[in-house]
Amino acid sequence: MILILIGYMASGKSTLGRILAKKLNYEFLDLDDYIETNENVSISEMFKTKGEIYFRKKETYYLKELLESKTNLVLSLGGGTPCYSNNMEMILNTNNAKSIYLKASIPTLIARLKNEKSKRPLIAHIETDDLLSEFIGKHLFERSQYYSLANATLTTDNKSENDIIEELIVKLF
Ligand code: S3P
Repeated sequence: MILILIGYMASGKSTLGRILAKKLNYEFLDLDDYIETNENVSISEMFKTKGEIYFRKKETYYLKELLESKTNLVLSLGGGTPCYSNNMEMILNTNNAKSIYLKASIPTLIARLKNEKSKRPLIAHIETDDLLSEFIGKHLFERSQYYSLANATLTTDNKSENDIIEELIVKLF
């Protein structure tokens, strides 16, 4: 089984994915880290030197590679992965995969991303908190249509990591 965590930037995909994998004794991979390791360049640097379209091509390439080759894997995607190319279709058509949308509220995402902008090329240049809030609101609205195609949705606001993991296991199995 491949368990795929989907959600906006800072929704907890990697943190929760790592804990879930440990609990299930599965391998854990973060798609961004996997791209960085295989391409030998950071995502920020790739955006800067080659542009977003190049990154999106690599993202689809490595997603496909993992979906076709792995089992007993927890895979955390990048926030944009489900929204580009035929990625969501590929995820939904993978027989041994289950996807779950980790849904955090806009205020929660804003609070987290305010302090974590620099390593995220899509928002690093946004200067004020007001502009950041406006961007996240619009961006999440556009992306929700893809996220909500996941096999299950789990709201994470005001829940402990342990509670989320327990709920994830119930929803996934
Ligand atoms: C992106 C999210 C990032 C990373 C890239 C683009 C996005 O991953 O893939 O910067 O389009 O939302 P995280 O969701 O892990 O921040």
